This record gives sequence, structure tokens and C-alpha cells, in this order.
Amino acid sequence: MLQSMEELEQLASQCRNCKLCETRNNVVFGVGNPQAEILFIGEGPGENEDLQGEPFVGRAGQLLDKYLAAVDLSREKNIYIGNMVKCRPPKNRDPQPDEVSACIGYLRNQVAIIRPKIIVCLGRIAAQYIISPDFKVTRQHGEFSLKNGVWMMGTFHPAALLRNPANKPAALEDFQKLREKINEVCTHTY
Ligand code: URA
Repeated sequence: MLQSMEELEQLASQCRNCKLCETRNNVVFGVGNPQAEILFIGEGPGENEDLQGEPFVGRAGQLLDKYLAAVDLSREKNIYIGNMVKCRPPKNRDPQPDEVSACIGYLRNQVAIIRPKIIVCLGRIAAQYIISPDFKVTRQHGEFSLKNGVWMMGTFHPAALLRNPANKPAALEDFQKLREKINEVCTHTY
């Protein structure tokens, strides 16, 4: 097990574990407070993220920041945000299973360092890998389940909300449920 997030990020920055390294501009390792009690997990970097080296900085990221702010969370303060894969899949296709397998060790190490009380999966890809392979976002969003001592919840991917704004009120409710769970199980988030 690695000592620190910086050490792990340094290792990831050189990674050639899968073919995504050939087309990336930057490894998008993660952002936020390594002492956070809440970890958000997305799918993988898009174009803006690949160019800037930070997760969720495009339009979807700006929407995510609004939902976070609505429940007094921010990447600068009290959460950490990572992705299933750290390098951009070409044309924003879904990450392939071999790419996820090659990359998942970094996420496992991030989880081991952060030791979050709550994990929020943004969208189907993360929820199916992390919560359950048959997870259906439309049916199970906002539901918490306890897995290995960590509360897990899946909600809509912000990019999906941009495509389908009708789900925005439901997404906001999920974040309000998240606030309740934080009040129940977290000690230093608020
Ligand atoms: N979508 C994701 O899943 N992750 C990002 O970092 C950006 C967009």
C-alpha cells in the first residue's frame, strides 16, 4: 500500500497500464481533500478534463459543482472526486472492461487512503462496477446501501442530466438525501 495521495498521483502520472495512455494529454488522477469523508466516483475524463488534468471541469462538472454547493459540499473543501479510469477514452466512449481492470488499482488505493464514510457513484458505469453489476440509475438512484462498512449511493451522471434535464429535480433530491446521510454518519464534513 502506498503512503500518500501525492505518491500515488506521481505513480499514476507515468502509467502505461492500458492503451488509453497512448491518446491521453493528461492523467486525470482526482481532486479534493484526501481527508474527506465523501468520495464521488465518475466514469472517466472527457475532453476538457483530459486537457486540464482535473475531473469534472467541463459543462457536466459545472453542473456537478452546483449540486454540490446546494448541499454545502465543494471539491476545495470537504469531498474528493475521482473516476473509474484516469485517462480519457477516445471520443468519450465507455471505458472498456480491460481498461477499468488496468486502472482500478489506483481507485482502490485512493479509497484506502481516504477511507470514505460515503461513496457516491455518478452514473451507471461507476454504480455498476462499485455498487452492483445490475444497478439501474433510473430505478435505484438516491438509495443508500452499506457495503464493507461504507455507505454507497448512485445518482445521475451530470452529463446525462444535461441531455435529459427532466431528471434534475430527482438528482437534487438525491443530493438532499446525501446531506441527511452525511448528518447521520459523518463527523467533520459540515
Ligand atoms: N465525466 C466523468 O465521468 N468524469 C469526468 O471527470 C468528467 C466527465
